[in-house]
Amino acid sequence: MTDQAATQDISRSTSPPASIDQLIADNARALSSQLHTLRARLFPPTAQKELRLFSSAEAARLIGVTDGYLRQLALGGGGPAAERGPGGRRLYSLAQVHELRRFLAKSKPGYIPARVGSEHLQVIAVTNFKGGSGKTTVSTHLAQYLALRGFRVLAIDLDPQASMSALFGYQPEFDIKPNETLYGAIRYDGDRRPLKEIIRPTYFQGLDIVPGNLELHEFEHDTPRMLAEGKKGDGLFFARVAKALTTVDQDYDIVVIDCPPQLGFLTLGALCAATGVLITIHPQMLDVASMSQFLQMTSGLLSVVRKAGGNLQYDFLRYLITRFEPNDGPQAQVVGFLRNLFGDLVLTQAMLKSTAVSEAGLRKQTVYEISRDQINRQTYERAIESLDAVNGEIENLIRKVWGRAAA
Ligand SMILES: Nc1ncnc2c1ncn2[C@@H]1O[C@H](COP(=O)(O)OP(=O)(O)OP(=O)(O)O)[C@@H](O)[C@H]1O
Ligand SMILES: [Mg+2]
Repeated sequence: MTDQAATQDISRSTSPPASIDQLIADNARALSSQLHTLRARLFPPTAQKELRLFSSAEAARLIGVTDGYLRQLALGGGGPAAERGPGGRRLYSLAQVHELRRFLAKSKPGYIPARVGSEHLQVIAVTNFKGGSGKTTVSTHLAQYLALRGFRVLAIDLDPQASMSALFGYQPEFDIKPNETLYGAIRYDGDRRPLKEIIRPTYFQGLDIVPGNLELHEFEHDTPRMLAEGKKGDGLFFARVAKALTTVDQDYDIVVIDCPPQLGFLTLGALCAATGVLITIHPQMLDVASMSQFLQMTSGLLSVVRKAGGNLQYDFLRYLITRFEPNDGPQAQVVGFLRNLFGDLVLTQAMLKSTAVSEAGLRKQTVYEISRDQINRQTYERAIESLDAVNGEIENLIRKVWGRAAA
């Protein structure tokens, strides 16, 4: 179906509407089917996403060695055999990058960053009830960055809107069946299943996902009902996400949770499971004003949860400036205001606004998935630099919690 045909489909369904619910249902169907077609065109023929190959320079940077060293290694027959790209350039898949790490780790274990000994699982909740503050963009790029760096990562889409799942190539209403979101593992009734069964691998080797869809919203309905009936199920609502995560603790180094834009029971569950919290802020005065309400409400709710026995021991909490335009005077002022107020709680690095994010988004991709020849080179470089700087700062927070030196 062409884009034009789809548009006609949608407009055809508007006349004559039997009722408003019918009209909306028709529009939903038309949109869903068109999205399905678009996806099939973007990722033919199996409609599955695949991760691109990385140049030898990129692979070297991810591993933390020089390009020259990788070349020597390749010449000496060490590590996996790279593919040859245009001009004989060596290209590595992410699986091969991991293989190289394992090869190098034989003489220096530090090349594999997985946690050891008493280093505990890091669960990072990316939150703010302000819609559009950059939660999904931040959490998806963070999860992918950490996987590229060699950590074992689980990304959880806790938002019924499922934007993170969409970035990973899933169309929530098509690809995610009942009981295939985190709801399946935290629900109160007998249909609850082990989280392990729900987790899916992604095309980023080392990064798994628990996708989301509208079903997650059920938790917001079930919980007040359980509370009203004075039932706990098999554990209090705020402990359910944490409890599910304990069953997969050994499989991961870091869990990244993309929270919904509301302070409901799902978000509270994520905050109780978290060891680290990132609050995303788009630096505009109106957004900051609403954040003040978010902080007040969060603090009130968390104190209730704490008194009820909830675990709220954070290794860190940080504010992250998102979609930042340094040349925008008012934005720079708001950032200055926040830094004065919150000091070191505001991450030094800000996520810059970039068309690379939106251009990649059009193809349901992140900046880490596109390559430098797909968009304007300078735009690409600037975006990658900003993302790596933000994510690198977060990686170092995690390393510090584990008692390691900065990367
Ligand atoms: N650094 C950036 N540069 C350009 N656009 C961005 C950037 N970060 C986010 N955006 C865009 O801003 C919009 C909102 O971002 P995002 O979806 O990450 O916010 P969110 O907080 O998850 O929203 P919601 O509350 O609806 O879940 C998206 O269209 C996204 O592509
Ligand atoms: Mg989102």
